[in-house]
Amino acid sequence: MWISFAGIITNYKDVKQFLVQKGHKFRSDTDTEIIAKLIKHIHGLHPNYSFRELVEQVIQQLEGAFALCFKSMHFPGEVVATRRGSPLLVGIKTKTKLATDHIPILYSKDVFEFGGRALSTRDREHSKLKDHRPHGHEIPAHGLARSQSTSEFLPQGDNKEVEYFFASDASAIIEHTDRVIYLLDDDVASVEKEGVLKIHRLKRTLEDTHAREITTLKMEIQQIMKGNFSSFMQKEIFEQPESVVTTMRGRINFDSETVVLGGIKDYIGEIRRCRRLLLIACGTSYNSAIATRQLLEELTELPVMVDLASDFLDRNTPIFRDDVCFFISQSGETADTLMALRYCKQRGALIVGITNTVGSSICRESHCGVHINAGPEIGVASTKAYTSQIISLVMFALMVSEDRISAQPRRSEIIQGLRNLPDQIKEVLELDSKIQEISKKVFEKKSLLVLGRGYNYATCLEGALKIKEITYMHSEGILAGELKHGPLALVDKGMPIIMICTRDNVFVKCMNALQQVTAREGRPILICHKNDQEPQKYGSSVLEVPKTVDCLQGILTVIPLQLVSYHVAVLKGCNVDCPRNLAKSVTVE
Ligand code: F6R
Repeated sequence: MWISFAGIITNYKDVKQFLVQKGHKFRSDTDTEIIAKLIKHIHGLHPNYSFRELVEQVIQQLEGAFALCFKSMHFPGEVVATRRGSPLLVGIKTKTKLATDHIPILYSKDVFEFGGRALSTRDREHSKLKDHRPHGHEIPAHGLARSQSTSEFLPQGDNKEVEYFFASDASAIIEHTDRVIYLLDDDVASVEKEGVLKIHRLKRTLEDTHAREITTLKMEIQQIMKGNFSSFMQKEIFEQPESVVTTMRGRINFDSETVVLGGIKDYIGEIRRCRRLLLIACGTSYNSAIATRQLLEELTELPVMVDLASDFLDRNTPIFRDDVCFFISQSGETADTLMALRYCKQRGALIVGITNTVGSSICRESHCGVHINAGPEIGVASTKAYTSQIISLVMFALMVSEDRISAQPRRSEIIQGLRNLPDQIKEVLELDSKIQEISKKVFEKKSLLVLGRGYNYATCLEGALKIKEITYMHSEGILAGELKHGPLALVDKGMPIIMICTRDNVFVKCMNALQQVTAREGRPILICHKNDQEPQKYGSSVLEVPKTVDCLQGILTVIPLQLVSYHVAVLKGCNVDCPRNLAKSVTVE
């Protein structure tokens, strides 16, 4: 048995205990092994079951979140794949065009008794096929055609070649094909000997769409190649001048100063009338909510709550029908965020998804939303998705406030700020070699504090998260206003500190915090505006960034921190793209 498995089986101990009682021996303590042993056990009990039926039996016993792909020497030439809570897609490659763009669902529990034996839908389809196929029925000569039962793909015509790819992310298969089917929870896809792809579900539910669409990916192969970069993370940091443009493309008209987000425009009236906005996410995506909360409050004039998805769920937070809940997620598959979404949806709130992954669970389960269009993000550390999430939320604030005359000057300054952003990001990226030199001074230290306030507070949190995540160094993002309530005790001449001090409405307060740090012999590395002499005299080194509108400044101040984390990780010999203990999509609670 060959199994490819992503996710977690939460009841694996119970299943293992059961199998041990039945005499099965285990070589490891992994949840993967219990799946292999369980299918073997069921095969022993029901030797006549098809491969797909065995897998269906197995997943009925499993709890948790998983994507699974099975092959077996007992069923040569067959593959069965299924998912629950973890993403899974099927890529289809044929020499000729597909004759259809949908594959219908078969319902396995839709059985009826036939001569004392349960006959499955599949048997029925086959007997129907045999009995009722009209003679001389012409099947299109080009590529794939659906069988007459409309329940399966059959390679037809002269060129019967068809290849299937199973993957959790489209970037893994784009070099082979751009045609994919996104499977839903509990779909069981099977490729049988003749190369026929079928999708089964155990039972019919009211929400079922009864078919899965074949989607054409708009991803380019170059987008998933590293090119001249040493890691995907480095490539993705340097892609930001372009990724922010793709996020804004077709949405902002810089001349008429209008913003249209197609995915939410039909809901804008409802959003304007809501009780409050809730922004719910994890990790970096949560930080993008912190980065934009102030602007959302200012331009929408609504109360804005920002929550970590896990904490939101722990609290059983009250949710109302007139709440608008945003779920921000690069992958669109994060388990905590998805569960928080379902919690709010059940309570009647309007669900807005902000994701980077078309077809992801959060996309599908939202009422409306925005694709951030940052392009595939492959490095585990999120970089370009963060800046594109901020821009998406800023565009949302601009769209909601379009009818507020008093907000026009502010809207106009932000829209022009967005227009200049790509060039300013390029300027910040030119600091790379200077940042590499600074990183050499800190990479052997134990800890790194990142201080700032106002719009730059989110940068502190995000910078510290990046540093922890890929360098394994302790790092903390601290709100400068909180210094005197505890963290100041950490400051001395040996403590590495990065401080962000840009000219905005909290500049004077930041200068105050800077003086408190230097008074305790702290010599911070400063991130400040170009040619701003006043804060620079307090810094051990200075990283000068261009000035933009306050609410966009975090995009320019976070990039030096992304680069610090990257260089420190390289200097420490860490695997930048695959940090220990972390996964790109966190599909477990
Ligand atoms: C940090 C990072 C994580 C993710 C978090 C949420 O670099 O990548 O903190 O941001 O796991 O993931 P998404 O955005 O996919 O929901």
